[in-house]
Amino acid sequence: MNPPFHETTPDEDPYLGAIRAEIPGYDRLQEAAIGAIPFPPASALELGIGTAETTRRLLAAHPGAQVTGLDSSPDMVFRARRLVADVRLGRMEDPLPDGPWDLVISVLSAHLLDEQRERDLFRRVREQARSLVIADRFGESAARLAEWCGGEIVWTEGKLAVIAADYR
Ligand SMILES: C[S@@+](CC[C@H](N)C(=O)[O-])C[C@H]1O[C@@H](n2cnc3c(N)ncnc32)[C@H](O)[C@@H]1O
Repeated sequence: MNPPFHETTPDEDPYLGAIRAEIPGYDRLQEAAIGAIPFPPASALELGIGTAETTRRLLAAHPGAQVTGLDSSPDMVFRARRLVADVRLGRMEDPLPDGPWDLVISVLSAHLLDEQRERDLFRRVREQARSLVIADRFGESAARLAEWCGGEIVWTEGKLAVIAADYR
């Protein structure tokens, strides 16, 4: 007989446990990213949505937001769809889902692109977003990134930083 089917909640997700162990400031980074959203978004695109931990927090703070997620990993897309209906399989370096978006948000994902692709991503985001929040492990590169995307560093803790831009 099969054991009873058990759908794990996001808090039980082993991926979350692993990333919390790797990045001790993970929860504070997530909290700071949500706190940096410049105005209540009606529509949002999360890049590199992963387990959808950021979107879970975004929806708790802004229940009216319609969120679309993007991730290049089919496994992560399936996980994120436990929480968010509209999650697309795709890469940040390819054309993004059509906006316009009140908010584009990305946590611990943009650094996976090389500098040129990252710069190109922020140029494309700016064409169709009214605001941008990026939270990542930047180290020295946070100030340069903030300049590229026309934003400001609004929170730091060691190498972790949150950059926010309001394009209205
Ligand atoms: C370190 S995880 C962060 C996940 C989530 N944002 C969080 O804060 O827990 C990076 C995520 O970005 C996705 N990813 C990596 N490269 C990508 C790309 N080029 N385009 C879209 N997603 C990508 C990975 O599959 C993974 O889900």
